[in-house]
Amino acid sequence: MDDDRAARAIRQQVRTDRLFGLEAVPVRPAGSSQPRQTSQNKSQALRIMDEQEVRKCTRCDLCRSRTQTVFGEGDPDAALMFIGEGPGQTEDEQGRPFVGRAGELLNKMIVAMGLAREQVYIANVVKCRPPDNRTPVPEETAACWDYLRRQIEIIQPRVIVALGAPAAKMLLETKVGIMKLRGTWQSFNMVQPPIPVMPTFHPAYLLRAYTQDNRAKVWSDLQQVMEMMKK
Ligand code: URA
Repeated sequence: MDDDRAARAIRQQVRTDRLFGLEAVPVRPAGSSQPRQTSQNKSQALRIMDEQEVRKCTRCDLCRSRTQTVFGEGDPDAALMFIGEGPGQTEDEQGRPFVGRAGELLNKMIVAMGLAREQVYIANVVKCRPPDNRTPVPEETAACWDYLRRQIEIIQPRVIVALGAPAAKMLLETKVGIMKLRGTWQSFNMVQPPIPVMPTFHPAYLLRAYTQDNRAKVWSDLQQVMEMMKK
């Protein structure tokens, strides 16, 4: 087809589209307001954020005491994302999330769900270890928030598990405590479409309070997640 004929065909197509009420050409999949990304794109976007921003980050004072940053790891295309609080000593030494005792328990939880650690994505609210493993203060979580928000935006998981109070508070913009929130479906509304969030106890809390009751609660929360993932 020569250029003139191609141009006439396009003009005709546009006129027909207008006739049927189509004013713009959709460039995103129907029902999604976010661009579709391939696994390779996601992996590259995450790597660039880590290498060019997070590793050099000095947005809060945690940068002074860290050995290294802990960006997060896992399948960039994961359907399930776990979000913890912040690196502990082992994570700070290794630069990887959940590799200490709490990580061992998280690994068991993931396996109990019928998944492998490599199939999910694991990140934290703050990317640097708070000294003495204290809870990160609001200035620190606020300074780091943009990284986690963008990680979620890139990965676009189908379900998020918020491990413990700081993760639940940040994701859900709430002051409601984890005791009340856990086991109830919530929603992360800063992306479109919103992502279902299941708040549950942090594995480190579970290790400290390893009662049958607490274990049963966490397992019931994870079973709800497994059900949601089947839909
Ligand atoms: N606790 C967390 O919240 N995150 C880790 O990475 C390790 C322990």
